[in-house]
Amino acid sequence: MRLLLPATLCAALVSALWPLPSSYTHGDTVLWIDKNVKVNYSGVKSSGYQSGGAPQGSQIIQAAIQRTHDAVFSKTFVPWKFHPRNSDYEPSTSGKKYISSIELKQTKPDPVNVTKPLDGAVDESYKLSVSESGEVICSAATSIGLVRGLTTFTQLFFKHSQGGSYTNLAPVDISDSPKFVHRGMNMDLSRNYFPVSDIKRQIDALAFNKFNRLHLHATDAQSWPLDIPSMPELAAKGAYESSLTYTASQLKELQYYGALQGVEVYVEIDMPGHTSAIWFSHPDLIAAFNVQPDWDTYCAEPPCGTLKLNDSAVPAFLEKLLDDLLPRVRPYTSYFHTGGDELNAQAYLLDDTVKSNDTDVLTPLLQKFVDRNHDQVRKMGLTPIVWEEMLLQWGLKLGSDVVVQTWQSDEAVAQTVAKGHKALVGNYEYWYLDCGQGQWLDFTPDAAAGYWPYQDYCSPRHNWRVMYDYDPLEGVPANSTHLVLGGEVHAWAEQTDPVNLDKMVWPRACAAAEVLWSGAKDAHGQNRSQVEASPRLSDMRERLVASGVGAEPIQMPFCLQNGTQCRLDH
Ligand SMILES: *[C@@H]1O[C@H](CO)[C@@H](O)[C@H](O)[C@H]1NC(C)=O
Ligand SMILES: *[C@@H]1O[C@H](CO)[C@@H](O)[C@H](O)[C@H]1NC(C)=O
Ligand SMILES: *[C@@H]1O[C@H](CO)[C@@H](O)[C@H](O)[C@H]1NC(C)=O
Ligand SMILES: *[C@@H]1O[C@H](CO)[C@@H](O)[C@H](O)[C@H]1NC(C)=O
Ligand SMILES: *[C@@H]1O[C@H](CO)[C@@H](O)[C@H](O)[C@H]1NC(C)=O
Ligand SMILES: *[C@@H]1O[C@H](CO)[C@@H](O)[C@H](O)[C@H]1NC(C)=O
Ligand SMILES: *[C@@H]1O[C@H](CO)[C@@H](O)[C@H](O)[C@H]1NC(C)=O
Repeated sequence: MRLLLPATLCAALVSALWPLPSSYTHGDTVLWIDKNVKVNYSGVKSSGYQSGGAPQGSQIIQAAIQRTHDAVFSKTFVPWKFHPRNSDYEPSTSGKKYISSIELKQTKPDPVNVTKPLDGAVDESYKLSVSESGEVICSAATSIGLVRGLTTFTQLFFKHSQGGSYTNLAPVDISDSPKFVHRGMNMDLSRNYFPVSDIKRQIDALAFNKFNRLHLHATDAQSWPLDIPSMPELAAKGAYESSLTYTASQLKELQYYGALQGVEVYVEIDMPGHTSAIWFSHPDLIAAFNVQPDWDTYCAEPPCGTLKLNDSAVPAFLEKLLDDLLPRVRPYTSYFHTGGDELNAQAYLLDDTVKSNDTDVLTPLLQKFVDRNHDQVRKMGLTPIVWEEMLLQWGLKLGSDVVVQTWQSDEAVAQTVAKGHKALVGNYEYWYLDCGQGQWLDFTPDAAAGYWPYQDYCSPRHNWRVMYDYDPLEGVPANSTHLVLGGEVHAWAEQTDPVNLDKMVWPRACAAAEVLWSGAKDAHGQNRSQVEASPRLSDMRERLVASGVGAEPIQMPFCLQNGTQCRLDH
């Protein structure tokens, strides 16, 4: 980043953008923006047709212009927090100079299926300039690139206390592209239920941070909220309560909503473990259901339960389930996640079709199970994603197309790419948003002392600085970094429900957004500085709050008003 301004002035001035663009210069000229400003989109004729009801490029641009309008005029804030107390920080309201035109230039036709790319298949780069005289030009090769550029544009503006919106950063010159192609959040919809409106608000906030994937961990042991129309009993009996489900049309609505913003929404059915909720409708398919009280021998958290591994009714069930679900998600995504985490060998001692916990017995059965699932996923034109255990713990042979989602360590990333697989990162010691809430288990009086002060397994809470310190390429040899597609933050929901969702995710997820978009290292190859990032992140937090997201504060206004006086350098 090259700043035109001397650094002392910059300390008090918010330079706004999050995540940081690859290249960014700005000045200090004030430009106002009028609600009737003309936006001219020059697309390319015959933009690629998008299959199966997915939004077309023109709809993506229309929606982006509308969002930009809302963000600049309604969802902005008066930036008093970012200027010295009692200072006269607002621009004069007389003799206003205005943005004169906004030109959106798309230089190529969108590729077919622009809203459901395989990782890296859609160019998200863009250029944005705001001249001192008020001409705005945003250009990109794809509609999604323009979406990213407009998102950046909105972050240049502040609200004036006497009304109106302005930027004090003209002229602006930005050239930007993402470091990683897969930038996502994994949202657990099973441990607690979240209404569609909550998920849409997460999509908005994700897109605002230039994330491009939302992974719906749609089912798990505790509840099955996902409606499968040809198997209505699954959600009817497996949801926590009959109304706490996602209908087929709601799932489609979520995927479409994401597609409009360049956030590809894909679904996971975690299996063969984490499937206890199937027991409520299909008890014969599940082994070790809700073993009590020594559940911890048979699963990671109650209720235990796993799909039987050697029962022909299970593949028949899965065939029917995926035949229903996959064609419905396919118009909006190129991926399907078949789960595979935390498989517990002991549970198969209680599986009447196996009665063994011997790895040599279980592994071939598991291989067959995963192969069947992946064949069906591929037949539907989708690419499978699995949790790391399938590859690293069980040593299964996976197709070279399979993306492996790691979570346990940096070594897991290195091992995955060493085997030639594409990897997603999300080390739980950095990018698990649920950690540090303390235990949700209730300890008996005899056991309690041994657990005091009841920390959870991944305590402490990972604050944004920890999330920001995480480098997805840590420990990955230079010849394999291309196999690290990116990563996801994880919003597991044992202790998260609609009441605290926003503050569990925001603004901490922003830290990962910047690592994934801008890279963990700065232009000099050094770790990024918290001192530089912190006020920008606070600015982003104000924007999230202004747009209706209940994001937590980063620090007190004193730190922001007083530039860098909350730093500590020894
Ligand atoms: C929009 O842009 C195109 C191409 O740059 C130009 O030919 C056209 O005159 C512009 N339209 C308006 C209304 O400015
Ligand atoms: C686009 O996606 C559809 C499924 O929605 C698929 O049938 C088609 O082959 C894809 N086209 C390309 C060019 O990827
Ligand atoms: C799987 O089931 C078949 C018949 O149902 C049985 O012959 C076989 O021994 C079982 N395999 C294992 C590993 O238990
Ligand atoms: C299998 O079960 C036996 C008896 O419960 C136990 O001693 C052994 O450690 C288990 N093996 C594995 C691989 O879990
Ligand atoms: C940079 O960050 C990494 C973690 O991503 C850490 O291991 C390393 O010690 C940091 N380097 C310096 C110089 O602080
Ligand atoms: C990277 O280099 C190592 C050691 O030189 C080698 O063993 C490995 O196969 C290489 N990996 C790739 C993906 O080229
Ligand atoms: C810090 O706060 C004091 C007292 O409000 C103020 O006078 C001073 O200008 C501030 N410093 C900066 C760098 O904003």
